[in-house]
Amino acid sequence: MSKVIGIIAGSLRKESFSKKLAIAVRGMAPEGFDFRIISIADLPIYNQDFDDNNEVPEAYTVFRNEANALNGIVFITPEYNRSVPGVLKNVIDVGSRPYGKSVWDGKPAAIFSNSPGNIAAFGANHHLRQSLVFLNMPIMQQPEVYLPNVSDLFDDSGDIKDGSTKDFLKKAIDAYIAFFQKNSK
Ligand SMILES: Cc1cc2nc3c(=O)[nH]c(=O)nc-3n(C[C@H](O)[C@H](O)[C@H](O)COP(=O)(O)O)c2cc1C
Repeated sequence: MSKVIGIIAGSLRKESFSKKLAIAVRGMAPEGFDFRIISIADLPIYNQDFDDNNEVPEAYTVFRNEANALNGIVFITPEYNRSVPGVLKNVIDVGSRPYGKSVWDGKPAAIFSNSPGNIAAFGANHHLRQSLVFLNMPIMQQPEVYLPNVSDLFDDSGDIKDGSTKDFLKKAIDAYIAFFQKNSK
């Protein structure tokens, strides 16, 4: 049976580069793997009362069930003010609760950060890494995936152009698959 890898892009923007990268990455799934884009668009902002008072929004239940079925996760994060966008932190928080029932626990992860700027969302990449360490997710160390100048990366139809960044992404996926094989339960 195929291993299922979720791809979570940390942006709701229609023309999001992170969402375009998610589509490109989905197309790079090797045989035996199902790469699945997980939508985070409908998740209300996390409020612990929802879980404590048994008033869990339907969107949380749908997401938690979907995430529980994943074997690993690739996070594609842009950067807001040198950290992860709120929508990405929100999905991390929603998935981490109720206490003891985290959907993230033990699942091998990779972080691909990107920006139209030169620093490639380094700050977001490492803030996200900090949360994933706490959530007990093994995280691919190498290669580190920082994608700068992403506004030049796509053609008019939104597809990733051939070139060194596309080649690097493929290598990063190969490395993640090898990492996944060693670290999945
Ligand atoms: C509130 C806000 C804060 C931002 N802060 C940063 C930042 O710290 N570093 C950076 O490289 N880009 C920053 N940007 C620019 C984003 O990289 C750019 O909008 C990018 O396209 C967002 O990702 P997306 O295309 O996946 O939506 C910021 C954008 C917004 C809206």
